[in-house]
Amino acid sequence: MRFVLDCDTGSDDAIAIFAAVGHPGLDLVAVTTVNGNVALEHVTDNTLRALDLAGADVPVRAGAVRPLVRPDLPVPRHVLNKDSAFQKHGLGLPEAVSAVRDGHAVPFLVDFFMDAANADVTLVATGPLTNLALALALEPRLVERIPRLVVMGGAHGNGNVTVAAEFNFWADPEAAEAVLSAGLREVVIVPLDATHSAPLTEADCSALEVNAVGTAAASLIRHRIETDRAAHATAAAPVHDPMCVAYLARPDLFTATVEAHVSVETAGARTLGQLLVDTRPWKPEPANATVALRASAEVYREFLAEALT
Ligand code: RIB
Ligand code: CA
Repeated sequence: MRFVLDCDTGSDDAIAIFAAVGHPGLDLVAVTTVNGNVALEHVTDNTLRALDLAGADVPVRAGAVRPLVRPDLPVPRHVLNKDSAFQKHGLGLPEAVSAVRDGHAVPFLVDFFMDAANADVTLVATGPLTNLALALALEPRLVERIPRLVVMGGAHGNGNVTVAAEFNFWADPEAAEAVLSAGLREVVIVPLDATHSAPLTEADCSALEVNAVGTAAASLIRHRIETDRAAHATAAAPVHDPMCVAYLARPDLFTATVEAHVSVETAGARTLGQLLVDTRPWKPEPANATVALRASAEVYREFLAEALT
């Protein structure tokens, strides 16, 4: 299963990268980076570090430094994270030994997916959708060429960065709306509803500590558990991005999905970035996405064990 990963490496993107490289059934062929969890230069450095630790030789190209339309995130990162040590610049991974490739990620995505040799390659997006929105604007024919987009984003229930919105779609709402309304052939959305339905635990971390990559993944997951423990008094944490990669290897991962027309709010004072999943039975608009609502924790754990140990 060949795929390209567009990511904003933060801790869960890094685990997704570890799993993408480690799972025998997956073939990560290229990575592009986008402004999101942290500023682009840190995203790219974190991405190179994760790939090097995983022992991968996968080309990385840097993409958008800011959202599609807005000059910055709706709330600048330093304000958003002012009370949180969670999204530090670095992930504590060893220095990168590889280097980012020349050439911008966006023209790369255009050339890559316009190449008929890549007609089978899925695109997985685990950060804001700025790069893909720019690529679609640059070459609208991509809509017919990308066979499938699997994207971590949105929430049918409560958001995380606001009550209504999940971070990836909130960080660049215009890009999310542009991508989801573009008419791509197949879109699978992995929202917070799915990722929160299969949180990982301290025991899952211990089970991963059998090699360097698994130990690094366990450390990143523990950091998320500790952060969530302080905020939510829980001893488990959702680990969002690897679930997109897990789905490629384990199509049985999701135990509940809905086919629906989806859109993203780009103007709401309180609802900016909200994913709207239209499940009204009379369905005024045709479905344009499969939205995962629940995942099997057992399948997720099996995938992580196969991929990381
Ligand atoms: O809301 C969770 C998503 O936002 C994850 O992809 C995380 O890495 C951040 O990008
Ligand atoms: Ca991410």
